[in-house]
Amino acid sequence: MDKFLIRGGKPLKGTVKISGAKNSALPCLAATLLTAETVTLHNVPYVKDLITQRRLLEDLGATVLTPELHTHKVRAANIEIYEAPYDLVKTMRASVLALGPLLARFGQAKVSLPGGCAIGTRPIDLHLKAFEQLGATVSLEAGNVIARAPNGRLVGADTFFEKVSVTGTENVMMAASLARGKTTIHNAAREPEIEDLAELLNKMGANIKGAGTETITIEGIEDLGEADHTIIPDRIETGTFIVAAAITNGELEIKNCHPKHLAAVIEKLRETGVEIEVADETLTVKCGGKKLRSKNVTTEPHPLFPTDMQAQYMALMTQAEGTSTIVETIFENRFMHASELVRMGADIQISGNTATINGKTKLMGAPILASDLRASASLVLAGLAAEGETLIDRVYHIDRGYETIVRKLCGIGADIERITENLTMSAEEIK
Ligand code: UD1
Repeated sequence: MDKFLIRGGKPLKGTVKISGAKNSALPCLAATLLTAETVTLHNVPYVKDLITQRRLLEDLGATVLTPELHTHKVRAANIEIYEAPYDLVKTMRASVLALGPLLARFGQAKVSLPGGCAIGTRPIDLHLKAFEQLGATVSLEAGNVIARAPNGRLVGADTFFEKVSVTGTENVMMAASLARGKTTIHNAAREPEIEDLAELLNKMGANIKGAGTETITIEGIEDLGEADHTIIPDRIETGTFIVAAAITNGELEIKNCHPKHLAAVIEKLRETGVEIEVADETLTVKCGGKKLRSKNVTTEPHPLFPTDMQAQYMALMTQAEGTSTIVETIFENRFMHASELVRMGADIQISGNTATINGKTKLMGAPILASDLRASASLVLAGLAAEGETLIDRVYHIDRGYETIVRKLCGIGADIERITENLTMSAEEIK
């Protein structure tokens, strides 16, 4: 397994470019299953989750061409299988996004039920309930969800999400695009990725209104067609680089981003004393040697502070003066980075869904273990701020969602290298 070796203490300086949003590219790739025509997606980040999503499309029978590294041309004209198998779903929960498109276009879908994951149980019951409201019959057989649309087509309906769900909203929006009649999604997720998917679907011919608000209406149509679409920039990668500049007392220009997508993050970081200048698609971040202030935060659905920035914010709060609390309201087990930060010298107590951080403590490099995607990002940030060497194991988590992170960090002055373990045993060792 690959590791990252970081020699910390260097202020990051220079310019970094943000990649396309993983969490937008994943549903947009799934949406290509809704049509037999070619859908071209630009600005698709080259990260492990997208490679997995591409494999899923190809396993189902779609042709995926990549004329350029970040462009995917998908033609799902010859889909023969309607199934997302366990070996894919277990590595990436977002494979459940195949359920809505397959069910809508072919009237049937089988998707392995995702189990628990590192950050909690993460059920998909709300997706399934909404599909039932659209007329599907849903059953569970041998760990698989089997959904069928009677007479082969879903029927538009009023759906209500008891809890805001991002992929749930996306799944239903895709399914309802090809349903007969009108669907309304109440208490829909409002993330920018929902708006991006709706924009793609509308380019494909769908009739979706209200994406980005809590009520989305979809007038179903018979067929969707070809489209050309550019994925929005990754707001979580953007936020991670803002923290990277702040935690190393550096100065960064962050390009190709959409600052308005992370307004709550920018506002909170400004409260802590981070100086952030916002231009159209560029952010400039500096600390100017000032002390950071501790500020409390609670994670909430968009447009409030995102759970996907919680771990990175915790790393920053270890370097702020005073006590701060972080309340995690979205996932029940999302503080696994805390114990690793403590091993590096942080003072953090966890009680239920609240973390209390006493700062500022000196961070010292240590061998540490990444547990999930955003936790890995927080450990990289801590390693960049720490004195001495930090060796992060299980960085496959970070490869799922951060494009060429080592190259990007080296480009702005970090001392970080990837160590690829040589698994070949010598003849002597085999004996
Ligand atoms: C998406 C993001 C993930 C982010 C999360 C919250 C993608 C690919 N992933 O995940 O990065 O951390 O939103 O912003 O976009 N829930 C249920 N039943 C359901 C669905 C969800 O109880 O059927 C619960 C979840 O367990 C969780 C909460 O609702 O507690 C929100 O989950 P959800 O918004 O669905 O997260 P994901 O879409 O899986």
